[in-house]
Amino acid sequence: MLIWEVFGYLALGLAAAFVAALTLTVLFGAPYLPTRRDHAQVAVSLAGLRPGQTLVDLGCGDGRLLVMAARQGFRAVGYEINPFLALISWWRGRAFPGRVKVYWGNFWRRNLPAETAAVFVFAAGPYLSRLGRYLSRQAGQTEQGLVLISYAFALPAHRPIKRHGPFWVYKIPGRPK
Ligand SMILES: C[S@@+](CC[C@H](N)C(=O)[O-])C[C@H]1O[C@@H](n2cnc3c(N)ncnc32)[C@H](O)[C@@H]1O
Repeated sequence: MLIWEVFGYLALGLAAAFVAALTLTVLFGAPYLPTRRDHAQVAVSLAGLRPGQTLVDLGCGDGRLLVMAARQGFRAVGYEINPFLALISWWRGRAFPGRVKVYWGNFWRRNLPAETAAVFVFAAGPYLSRLGRYLSRQAGQTEQGLVLISYAFALPAHRPIKRHGPFWVYKIPGRPK
């Protein structure tokens, strides 16, 4: 009997933690809403990466973009604040050793890997101004700059180099040579 009680409390605790984690993400960037699989495929091709180049997903959710990029021979790095989703992404990424990395945490507090060539983001509208400033800072530390693929929302005060369905593609310049 006791064992069932323990299981019950454990399940309740996990469910509460899951809901709390989902709610918290609203405060930091965007709630979890996965990109449609067919759209994820398009997003990776819009990045225009060469084999071995790195795509970063800021808020990688269940890791679908990372897996898709890795399958195509790219490297993929994901940041995810929700521990449950970070775990799922990490689990899915295990199939691509050395090609997929997942970091659990708040991406605003991280610097992007120096080798980042493209960034994908599916963030809530109110965070996009901040995102523009964050990415300009990050790209400014590189010579090559980076490509941003924004899903569903445009970046204020930036002119896209391409518009494709629900995507806006931007070139964020690096530091002057
Ligand atoms: C709209 S979902 C997109 C998930 C995934 N990129 C996709 O396209 O399927 C946004 C994700 O970003 C995560 N997130 C929001 N703010 C974050 C932050 N500051 N740092 C890391 N992850 C964050 C959320 O937990 C959520 O999983």
